[in-house]
Amino acid sequence: MPEPGKNVLEVRDLEVEFRTDTGITNALTGVSFDVPRGEVTAIVGESGSGKSVTANCIMRIIQPPGKIAGGSIRFDPSDLDAFDVVSLGPKDDRLYDLRGGHISMVFQEPMTALSPVYTVGNQVSEAILCHRDVSEEVAWREAAEMLELVGITDTERRMHMYPFEFSGGMRQRVVIAMALVCNPEVLICDEPTTALDVTIQAEILTLIRELQQRLNNSVIFITHDLGVVAQLADHVVVMYQGRVLEIGSVRQVLKAPVHPYTKGLLAAIPGLAKKGERLETIASVVGDDDISTPHPLVTLKDGRQVSLPAESLGDLL
Ligand SMILES: Nc1ncnc2c1ncn2[C@@H]1O[C@H](COP(=O)(O)OP(=O)(O)OP(=O)(O)O)[C@@H](O)[C@H]1O
Ligand SMILES: [Mg+2]
Repeated sequence: MPEPGKNVLEVRDLEVEFRTDTGITNALTGVSFDVPRGEVTAIVGESGSGKSVTANCIMRIIQPPGKIAGGSIRFDPSDLDAFDVVSLGPKDDRLYDLRGGHISMVFQEPMTALSPVYTVGNQVSEAILCHRDVSEEVAWREAAEMLELVGITDTERRMHMYPFEFSGGMRQRVVIAMALVCNPEVLICDEPTTALDVTIQAEILTLIRELQQRLNNSVIFITHDLGVVAQLADHVVVMYQGRVLEIGSVRQVLKAPVHPYTKGLLAAIPGLAKKGERLETIASVVGDDDISTPHPLVTLKDGRQVSLPAESLGDLL
């Protein structure tokens, strides 16, 4: 088997459309970015920019009336040959292994991932049994270990409790444990702390970072909060209206943004991007021409990519 490459995922020219009564909405247009292995890639952008749709494409959970209309997502797991997630047929075994096995997802609201009628211990061990051929005893033991790893104390007793007996922060810890039990190569977190109190948010972010460093998996972290990006991510993908406007290291993008939209996003932090609040109106602080005209991504000499006309980039090229 070939050595796995530097990028665990390579998204190329991804197109997603939603067909509704009023016509076709292009939710994603020509979205391309890499997810480097063993690092944290943040996708940032205001509400409706296409962050969740992008994540759902990687998991292949886009539901009608949405549809992937073009592009590819090359997934390069360390234990299998690389394949294109977009072109997998609905009955391909790799699709089942992908969801919750190779790639897991943590959503904003923990109760969407948890069932109210089963105990926490049952749900975490079930996540193990779904993807691995081990006995119930082994699954229970491993579930307990994983719950301890995510900071749940008094595990044996708590595993017999139901999610409603847990606080919001503890539930999100359980969801993270469920997402990690199969040792996924990629963990996608879609605004996992937005529904939590500020202090709990900070704890969960620290937890995600610590687990990523310990388990060495690749993380895609979706957020509209650039403060969180600075704290957590290695790379940043900036999205707006279903397109990618800028890609670079955290340092590049946060310290010296090139695209006017990214600059606007940063300038707007104190006013608009308070933790837990949504960014809605960056376009109003940026010249509309800069962001409404699509340009292909251009690679600059420092390696970052930006969607601007080449002639405007001068000696950055
Ligand atoms: N079920 C749907 N039906 C029709 N259009 C949809 C649907 N889901 C998403 N879209 C379209 O895709 C776009 C991107 O949605 P997406 O959920 O990815 O935004 P987001 O960046 O995750 O926003 P948020 O920060 O609010 O979660 C939306 O603006 C909308 O046009
Ligand atoms: Mg979303």
